[in-house]
Amino acid sequence: MEWTKAKVSLALSLFLVSLGISLADLRVGFYSNTCPQAESIISRVVSGAALSDPNLPAVLLRLHFHDCFVEGCDGSILVDNGPISEKNAFGHEGVRGFEIVEAAKAELETACPGVVSCSDIVALAARDAIFLANGPEYEVPTGRRDGRVSNMSLAKEMPDVSDSIEILKAKFMQKGLDAKELVLLSAAHTIGTTACFFMSKRLYDFLPGGQPDPTINPAFLPELTTQCPQNGDINVRLPMDRLSERLFDKQILRNIKDGFAVLQTDAGLYEDVTTRRVVDSYIGLLNPIFGPTFETDFVKAIVKMGKIGVKTGSKGDIRRVCSAFN
Ligand code: HEM
Ligand SMILES: *[C@@H]1O[C@H](CO)[C@@H](O)[C@H](O)[C@H]1NC(C)=O
Repeated sequence: MEWTKAKVSLALSLFLVSLGISLADLRVGFYSNTCPQAESIISRVVSGAALSDPNLPAVLLRLHFHDCFVEGCDGSILVDNGPISEKNAFGHEGVRGFEIVEAAKAELETACPGVVSCSDIVALAARDAIFLANGPEYEVPTGRRDGRVSNMSLAKEMPDVSDSIEILKAKFMQKGLDAKELVLLSAAHTIGTTACFFMSKRLYDFLPGGQPDPTINPAFLPELTTQCPQNGDINVRLPMDRLSERLFDKQILRNIKDGFAVLQTDAGLYEDVTTRRVVDSYIGLLNPIFGPTFETDFVKAIVKMGKIGVKTGSKGDIRRVCSAFN
């Protein structure tokens, strides 16, 4: 009897692990005894850095996503281990914010050496970033440990701007996230920018004959093509949430509905019945009188994303510097 139970629970954990979820014991306030200042040190570094770079909140939020989707939320994206470094993967193109994490880590090593993981810094910095952008305040379960692998070929499955909605759903499902969470987490594009690099296909090579994506509102198309002219500078950046790029709010969902989404994948969320229903549920007249707000559900989704494949207990390391293995 006991043996069968053990077998069932082993099978269950193997199943969950195969989904990329471990039975992790992350908990809010993990550092409250070992490094009580940890979270305030990180908040201070993040808000200080945001003074000179108003787009930094977006940068840090994106970094958390990219960390979690490869090898779990384990700081693997932070490591510089030569040309094969995971951070060099095409799927991580444009990801930044490493030096802010490193600056927080340096202060934490002075305050409480060897205690706070780089992966927790990334998760907490994303939380602080959302708050700085006027988004919801939430608690982050901590206790992640840092990974010992960094290999760019592990990032081949990162979601891509030209992925179909089916592929996106499948890639999120592989990380234990459903279609609703795909919508909520994509709505992180409520802050930040994209390089024109990611717009070329959507604007100039979408349909035969080089026609643009027909889901772009005709009133918006000239704006986009002016900002990202054909054969122009691919490094020029444009806001992803038109007229609201610094504010963490649900305007991005209205923009998606109205054909003002900038990224092809965001626009695609309104072309599928399931994900369209999720978008509509947060922007209809009945929300938030009936049903949870976008902010409430976003927090649940990002806390869940922060648990993907985490290493806890005796797994992984607490790195001394975030850019190198111990
Ligand atoms: C659904 C699949 C996703 C795709 C295909 C995607 C794609 C992209 C692309 C192409 C950019 C522009 C990057 C650049 O030019 O530097 C971007 C930026 C961004 N992404 Fe995503 N993303 C996805 C999901 C997410 C998720 C889940 C989050 C966070 C929860 C996120 C947060 C961000 C943020 C905040 C930025 C702005 C970065 C900046 O301004 O530097 N994205 N994303
Ligand atoms: C990186 O991953 C690829 C594919 O899994 C593997 O062939 C290669 O040996 C790895 N490289 C290193 C240095 O671990």
